[in-house]
Amino acid sequence: LPIQPVCHCSCQHSEGDECYKRKDIHLHVKTAASAPGKIILFGEHAVVFGESSIATALQLRIRVKIEDAERESFNGVYLDARSTPHAFHALRLSGRSGVGISVSSDIPAGAGLGSSAALSVALIRALRPEIEERELAELSYRVELAAQGRASPADTSIATHGRAIYISSRETAEELWSIRGNEVTWHVSHLEMKQIPVVIGFTGIQAATGPLVMKVKTLYEKYKLVREAIAEIGLLTEEAVVALRRNDLVRIGELMDRNQRLLTVIGVSSREIEKLIDAVRPYSYGAKLTGAGGGGCIIAVTDNPERVREAIELRGGSAFITSIYSEGARCENE
Ligand code: PMV
Repeated sequence: LPIQPVCHCSCQHSEGDECYKRKDIHLHVKTAASAPGKIILFGEHAVVFGESSIATALQLRIRVKIEDAERESFNGVYLDARSTPHAFHALRLSGRSGVGISVSSDIPAGAGLGSSAALSVALIRALRPEIEERELAELSYRVELAAQGRASPADTSIATHGRAIYISSRETAEELWSIRGNEVTWHVSHLEMKQIPVVIGFTGIQAATGPLVMKVKTLYEKYKLVREAIAEIGLLTEEAVVALRRNDLVRIGELMDRNQRLLTVIGVSSREIEKLIDAVRPYSYGAKLTGAGGGGCIIAVTDNPERVREAIELRGGSAFITSIYSEGARCENE
């Protein structure tokens, strides 16, 4: 087989290192990539119905390394659809086989911080390093659907693009890509905003996203109140885009509090979430759950991160003070 003399890859590996390009000649190849976790600032659940949502990328990342292997594995354990569904479907959908996958992560799993989506995105990036952002977002959304069932492309799009995104079923001038699924077409746009001071509080309870999304669907079909709450979340998210662009922390906080009340109406808050929110409110512009709810994490926008951290820890939660607006998926030198 011919050896490719020139390397066209976008990974910027150092000279002399083996390059994934050379997989064509069946060398033992290693590639690595990473993707960020996320918080949903506004609009979780409502986004599944096509309402607007805003997400931003965290500094916490997942790192994936792949190498050719006789036996497909995930951190040394046999890869299968039941125990590692995201990795399993990412491999199948990207058309690759015969790889060993090693993963390390700073994103707590099952906390609503987008660890599964970041895994799918980083893995596809490592399997197909030259893939364009648009296709990466589309493919990783298909993985999410296969692994989780009903879902919006919020988590996979923010893990792909990084920084901050605005998702809506309406077209915008700054559109990055659009994705269709669940009878909705979502338009994903870049959102230019400043860093805002956010503290994350983990309730310690891991809640699966799929059943919560299905619960909201059932309530939506049954109750007008829930349909109205979903529509109102969409409207307040539109207002939040303006507040975030202006960096108006007071307004952002008010809108977060309103969003939280509506999330309670649609049945995804919990006692543990409310407990942490009550604890951080005196020191915050606003606070709400982030992600699927039912446990998972809250976010608070605050000028006083240390007081908020203390308040979270006093109520038995764990706090993360971390930057937002981080870089999206990228290849790494492994
Ligand atoms: O908790 P997470 O990180 O899985 O976020 C779920 C976000 C939802 O809006 C509830 C579902 C979705 O697919 O958008």
